[in-house]
Amino acid sequence: MTKIALIIGSLSQNSLNRSIANHLVNQAPEGVSVEEVIIGDLPLYTQDLDQQMIDVYERVRKQLSEADAVLFVSPEHNRSVPAAVKNLIDIASRPFGKSVWNGKKTAIVTASPGSYGGINSGLHLRQILQSLGAETLNAPELFLSRANTALNDHGEVNDERTVSFLNKFASTFYAWVVKL
Ligand SMILES: Cc1cc2nc3c(=O)[nH]c(=O)nc-3n(C[C@H](O)[C@H](O)[C@H](O)COP(=O)(O)O)c2cc1C
Repeated sequence: MTKIALIIGSLSQNSLNRSIANHLVNQAPEGVSVEEVIIGDLPLYTQDLDQQMIDVYERVRKQLSEADAVLFVSPEHNRSVPAAVKNLIDIASRPFGKSVWNGKKTAIVTASPGSYGGINSGLHLRQILQSLGAETLNAPELFLSRANTALNDHGEVNDERTVSFLNKFASTFYAWVVKL
């Protein structure tokens, strides 16, 4: 079984990024399991906490280190990566020498109701992951603008063009991870 850890960068109850992530999860082929990494309950990281055993930190570090790949589906907050996502990345990059990110396969999707699709968040995230030695899927890039217009009242993606973008991304991503 190939394991994918999913990070949804929004803590919002009605997150449109969660809706986009659900669509991508539904495209996972047989033999691939996708499990969300819960990030909303993680205390803000400081290196002083490296001396302590913090259960929720150990939970996410283990989940990420056991994953074959990590998929980020995230909004943009003030032209960058949401604080909760950055906090998770920092937690999983430490203690020094124990980072989970080195050599980890990662992929990035951003979605926004705005015209730029959260591209700054996506590019900042790529830069952060690169500095940590992660491998990031290069193409297709997916920064989904006007994402709210692609969803129906149940939060399902029902716009044909968006479905086609998402499915293309999903098939490339899953094939890259599984090495089909
Ligand atoms: C603190 C904050 C900052 C935001 N900054 C941006 C931004 O820089 N660019 C953008 O496209 N949308 C921005 N937005 C709007 C989000 O794209 C919008 O709230 C979107 O619904 C977030 O995705 P979510 O529904 O998955 O949480 C911001 C929203 C918040 C709450």
